[in-house]
Amino acid sequence: MEGLEPPRLAALDPKSSVSTNFTTSACFPNFQTEKRRKDRQIVHSAIGSSDKHAHPAKVFTFAQSPRMPSFTPSELPVAQLHGLLLGAIGPRPIAFASTLDEDGRPNLAPFSFFNVFSANPPILIFSPARRGRDNTTKHTFENAMAVPEVVINIVSHAMVEQMSLASNEFDKGVNEFEKAGFSMKASDVVKPWRVAESPAQFECRINEVVQLGKQGGAGNLIICEVLRFHISDEVMNGEGKIDQNLIDSVGRMGGNWYVRAHGAALFEVAKPGQNPAIGFDKIPEDIRSSTVLSGNDLGQLGGVQELPDETEVNEWRLTELSELFVSMEEDPRQLEDTLHRKAAELLSEKKVKEAWLTLLSFNN
Ligand SMILES: Cc1cc2nc3c(=O)[nH]c(=O)nc-3n(C[C@H](O)[C@H](O)[C@H](O)COP(=O)(O)O)c2cc1C
Repeated sequence: MEGLEPPRLAALDPKSSVSTNFTTSACFPNFQTEKRRKDRQIVHSAIGSSDKHAHPAKVFTFAQSPRMPSFTPSELPVAQLHGLLLGAIGPRPIAFASTLDEDGRPNLAPFSFFNVFSANPPILIFSPARRGRDNTTKHTFENAMAVPEVVINIVSHAMVEQMSLASNEFDKGVNEFEKAGFSMKASDVVKPWRVAESPAQFECRINEVVQLGKQGGAGNLIICEVLRFHISDEVMNGEGKIDQNLIDSVGRMGGNWYVRAHGAALFEVAKPGQNPAIGFDKIPEDIRSSTVLSGNDLGQLGGVQELPDETEVNEWRLTELSELFVSMEEDPRQLEDTLHRKAAELLSEKKVKEAWLTLLSFNN
């Protein structure tokens, strides 16, 4: 067991007078070599990730791979650049934009260059781009210039195929509500129609259109202010919030790929508290270099605002871990590994404090 400090088992014995002398920095000797740190990254891929859906081998690859081709946009054909940007930057939400032309004829088209950028004022931006192949503009852009109002409808999974149908390049004046089989619902404060089937509909005034260029592929930012919006009762959770499972949104990815934000695809990550977290760098080196804990595990550990104190750690070790310590007394490396696995399991259940108590028990 070269280089590995045996755990101070005396602390397990309530009668022992041995001081545990616990401080974070003093109690975590750096017995990890650079070699072991590298091993960790590889072992990660095979074992111990607390995230059942993660592909740690890939995470390792991104960080360690010597092959990471680089690109300069001006050196790429626009179609390739477009494909790489859209393949990498996703999932993107979809604005299903309803506008009117200068003659009042309805138009409906989806745009995944879209997001919310401000709550106060409530600003949404989407971008109908100039076509790469012939530098023509989209009807939605032309309509936004002629009649500066839009309803942005959110696309749920139940609507996705019809939404795609609406994205066909129909002639000007063709009503995509009819072509795609959606119901037109009158808006309260703007002229364009709402998509009745959409779970969330935002009536907007167009404040500004920013043209990002005159060449094919150039985006046009349609900067919209929400004047009134509608959320279906069917997707509310009864406490005035939107149930993320019920809204069942879809997002656009590269090529023909979409993502459905639903069921197993949804997960929660706790928001940081008001006081700053200790951070990754304050995690003791022997834990940071664990052969078991993943980047996501360490991210959770670094997210706490303070570490448990020595008394809590000792109590945890006595009440929860004493059998483990006794059974592995002769094999500190196995003990450390087992504690790290236990911590990973706790972290997969979001029991961050218990994970810290388990990890800090090792050298305490
Ligand atoms: C899910 C999805 C997202 C799209 N996002 C965009 C986009 O962000 N910008 C864009 O210019 N075209 C986008 N398109 C293509 C347009 O919807 C398509 O060109 C449409 O015919 C434009 O209609 P319009 O001429 O009536 O405005 C998207 C298509 C789909 C299916």
